[in-house]
Amino acid sequence: MKRILTGDRPTGKLHLGHYVGTLANRVKLQNEYDTYIMIANIQGLTDNFNNPSKVRDNIIEVIKDYYAVGLDFNKCKIFIQSEVSAINEIFVYLSNFVSVQKIMHNPTIKTEIAEKGMTESTPLGFFYYPIHQVADILCVKADLVPVGKDQAPMIEDAREIARKFNQTYSVNILPEPEALFGITENLPGTDGNSKMSKSLNNCIYLSDDDETLKKKVNSIYTDPTRVKATDKGHIEGNVAFIYHDIFNTNKDEVKDLKERYVEGKVGDVEVKEKLFIALKTFLDPIRERRKEAEQKQDELFANVLASSKVVSGIANQTLSEMKEVMKIKF
Ligand code: TRP
Repeated sequence: MKRILTGDRPTGKLHLGHYVGTLANRVKLQNEYDTYIMIANIQGLTDNFNNPSKVRDNIIEVIKDYYAVGLDFNKCKIFIQSEVSAINEIFVYLSNFVSVQKIMHNPTIKTEIAEKGMTESTPLGFFYYPIHQVADILCVKADLVPVGKDQAPMIEDAREIARKFNQTYSVNILPEPEALFGITENLPGTDGNSKMSKSLNNCIYLSDDDETLKKKVNSIYTDPTRVKATDKGHIEGNVAFIYHDIFNTNKDEVKDLKERYVEGKVGDVEVKEKLFIALKTFLDPIRERRKEAEQKQDELFANVLASSKVVSGIANQTLSEMKEVMKIKF
């Protein structure tokens, strides 16, 4: 059985962007792949080291979100990154195979550094997280990594580093993992920003209640050129319609709304009311299961700790194979 590894930083609850980017793929593939899902708390600390409670407290939130979207805790190994200490050591060895300049050109980290106001002073731990993430992926020898499009550079790094490692020592220890993307682009935020992201405060969370959902839907960025409902509207780049296309299962309704929108025959109010219903329909079963997860959160946490031990064993084995060929095994 081929292996999947992917994960999330526990720095907030999961949102619709996570869902379309990677969660949907995980739920679909958990039956066909040996699936490993990491709660990346070490990575979470790289820009939250001064707020460890935030990272700690969000671990259980992410666990509940995983359960809510339908990940099966008996099929998947859901684990905590910091419980697998071999990852840190694997990272040290892998870092020999990548240049500082390569990380500096990673478009995802560049954007994050700018967004987080770290241009003048970037913590080294944050700067090298893309390579630490390569260790996450390679420690279980993953074949496939379901992620959002923004993670593409990290998977590319993983492939290159695995290849170089194998070539350097004439071995075939580390597989070159492939990325699996959800929808082709990142899901835009409610404010029209190209990426839904908690740090941009433009998210619809899987756990939002109806009232919050309603408020957020009403605030969605639509067509800035349109002043009155009778003005001809634009669909392109209109976040309300991007969400309709993805989440509204009534395709005829979406088609009708689009036709009327471009002719100036429907207002934003109706478009958003229908979007609210569509999102509510999508989220209702997820929120139901999240309530169930709340009831058994201790059991789920225990499952995660047990899985962490299993993954630690696998990662130790990978580390041992690597040390052998690097001639540091005594
Ligand atoms: N960087 C990912 C994110 O921000 C989280 C992550 C950590 C990850 N380790 C990983 C994703 C390994 C895939 C594989 O969403």
